Amino acid sequence: MINSFDNAVDFAKKWIDLIHRSTLTEGEAKGVIEESKYNFAEHFNRGWLDYRKSVTEAGDWAAVEWTGSGAVFQDVLGREYIDCLGGYGMMDLGWSHPEVVDTVRAQLGRTPMPSQELIDPLRGVLARLLSMITPGDIKYSFFAASGTEAIEGAIKLAKMYTRKDGFIVAVKAFHGKTMGSLSMMGKADYRQPPGTLYGGPVYHVPFGDADAVERQLDICHKVGIDIAACLFEPIQGEAGALVPPDDFWPRIRAVTKQYGVLLIADEVQTGLGRTGKLWGVDHWMVVPDIIAIAKSLGGGVMPISAFSSTEEIWQCMMSPNPFIHTTTTGGGALACSAAIAAIYITLRDKLWEQAALKGDYLQNKLRFLAEQYPQFYASITGKGLLIGQHFHNPEVGYKVAAGLFKRGVLVAGTLTSAHTIRIEPPLVITFEQIDNVIDRLADTLAEINKTI
Ligand SMILES: Cc1ncc(COP(=O)(O)O)c(C=O)c1O
Repeated sequence: MINSFDNAVDFAKKWIDLIHRSTLTEGEAKGVIEESKYNFAEHFNRGWLDYRKSVTEAGDWAAVEWTGSGAVFQDVLGREYIDCLGGYGMMDLGWSHPEVVDTVRAQLGRTPMPSQELIDPLRGVLARLLSMITPGDIKYSFFAASGTEAIEGAIKLAKMYTRKDGFIVAVKAFHGKTMGSLSMMGKADYRQPPGTLYGGPVYHVPFGDADAVERQLDICHKVGIDIAACLFEPIQGEAGALVPPDDFWPRIRAVTKQYGVLLIADEVQTGLGRTGKLWGVDHWMVVPDIIAIAKSLGGGVMPISAFSSTEEIWQCMMSPNPFIHTTTTGGGALACSAAIAAIYITLRDKLWEQAALKGDYLQNKLRFLAEQYPQFYASITGKGLLIGQHFHNPEVGYKVAAGLFKRGVLVAGTLTSAHTIRIEPPLVITFEQIDNVIDRLADTLAEINKTI
């Protein structure tokens, strides 16, 4: 018997109708919650439900996100949250920035995706725009959708240009979870389960330790292992907003040049203003050879990522085979229109300056609270609005994150641990909202203090 797929048609139609609805009744909203939980548990990944505060800490009804604006979003029941997670760095412009949405809508009215054969204008515009704002002589870019794809491209480019295979990366580094980027990751939790990864040599050194990078390059040179590139985040994000010593980036820039090794900056999370400079490496006035960008490049509206480099390095992308690196959906017109708008707003509003000011303000207040509760806090780290609260143990971190969620503030641990709770709100968060977050955190800490 031929399957008519009637159930699938009805199911999809129901959801298309819901997407078009601007309001739901309370009963419908509760239906959405129950169905969302079921869909995750039975068809996506039930493990996620155990980790999500939206399920465990939202009261009688799990929090299913529905809509948002600026630094505030609402769940389907209309409960409001101040977003201090910012989609792990994707929401620098906040939820649904109206100018990005407008630009994308206008492009949508014309065409969402390229033919793949003619010249699509926006891809070129975005590449040129990036050449205007990236450090040094960086001039050419390739576009994909995710951060991990940007890193894959950066790794491949470094190998093709140098014709070498080795990489030096950092312990605790996070570069993505596809096979190449995963090989560069500095966490056993993610690297071990899939078994053998990238076949070439990958050496991990402690993050921020320029001596270790120099030593590793020297050893590789002496024993004849060819290193293509050193790859680091300017400030480690997933590791908990860890800032390297000030001499780290200048020294690794100098030593990579000395050994003819490329320097790749993973600006996927730090890029476009989050740390108080447009690029993380700008804190140390360092110009990398290759830069990877993603997350906020799409303005929190479309997925888009890029890896970019100089004309000299890019030659191997253009000749002899200009199609050596392609992807069908990456760099489509909608994604590029979002990125062009996101860059425009970031530059026009000098959002990195806001990140620096608000970050100082927030970090000072956090340090004050940390001093009041030394039994809980180990340290506060970070730059701009990429901030880590480090606790002596993960139980306290979890209670802080859960207590904040109950009080309408979303923060995040690292992916599977609450030892460190990250605060990385949209850069457009207001000072008043920051004060609100701090009040709710103080309240949470006082409550935890009573129960421990
Ligand atoms: C520094 C860094 N690089 C790469 C990635 C991977 O990006 P994506 O999750 O878009 O693949 C992340 C994601 O958190 C990241 O923080």
